[in-house]
Amino acid sequence: MSFTLAHFSDVHLGPVAIADVFGDFRLKRIIGGLSWGLRRRAMHIRAHADALRADIHAQAPDHICFTGDLVNIAARAEFRRGLEWLKTVGTPADLTMVPGNHDAYVHLAHDTGLGLLNPFMEGDGSSNDHIFPFVRLRRNIAIIGLSSAQPQRLNKAGGTLGKEQRTALATRLADLGARGFYRLVMIHHPPLPGLTPARRALTDAPELREVLKDSGAELVIHGHNHTTQINGLDTASGRAFVVGVPSASMVDKDGHESAQWHAYSVNRARGKWQTRLTIRRLHGATGRFVDVRSGILGQDIEA
Ligand SMILES: [Fe+2]
Ligand SMILES: [Fe+2]
Repeated sequence: MSFTLAHFSDVHLGPVAIADVFGDFRLKRIIGGLSWGLRRRAMHIRAHADALRADIHAQAPDHICFTGDLVNIAARAEFRRGLEWLKTVGTPADLTMVPGNHDAYVHLAHDTGLGLLNPFMEGDGSSNDHIFPFVRLRRNIAIIGLSSAQPQRLNKAGGTLGKEQRTALATRLADLGARGFYRLVMIHHPPLPGLTPARRALTDAPELREVLKDSGAELVIHGHNHTTQINGLDTASGRAFVVGVPSASMVDKDGHESAQWHAYSVNRARGKWQTRLTIRRLHGATGRFVDVRSGILGQDIEA
């Protein structure tokens, strides 16, 4: 029996209020607020994110994965609104999140900021500890959540895992692989070198690639680039697929990939994992999501 997963990312939930920009002053927030008003507000449409949620619910996946950038400038009010919206997508048991760079836009007390979303970012059976990587087991699928979100300088949108997280990831991947789990890794930033410009990149992507190569993984999903990216990586235990999804709220206009989510169906056939990917994209004129591509990774869809 297959296990079905939905993946979406980069909701950039609006609107950003003036009070969010100027309350608890930070220069980076002012610039982020300007960017929202001048550019992003017209790109990220909340109604599209709501329609995407409805489309996911209509397919009733076994689990939902969200790879961050829920908010825009990490204002406290944004996290409160973001939490309310996430609760309409799924319960903490059915929805797993990892944070994006916009969720850590500026340094903010954890309890009143990103910490509000902790229930979606915890491993099975963990208490209030908020430690990455966390692991959630759902049937024969192991969901491993990483945090690449760290406050960045004014002109940067990068991220870093750090040695501690990479070392723990290597141990967990090896252990879960030996126990026969399908290893699904969630990270906001593209995990391999060269997938995004240096200003927006994961600083330790080369080191992460080595961890994935040595310890193995079946699927790595990410967001951040607001575009569809399908790549592969040969690992010690076979081919890992690395798939990025565009923004969940993007407008349907030239030059942008409109709101999109990815439906996965994972099967074990003849001793091998098989991952089917179906790309669901918003058709702006009708407001409906449609299949734009579907196939088995590494077979029908090259990676
Ligand atoms: Fe984003
Ligand atoms: Fe991002």
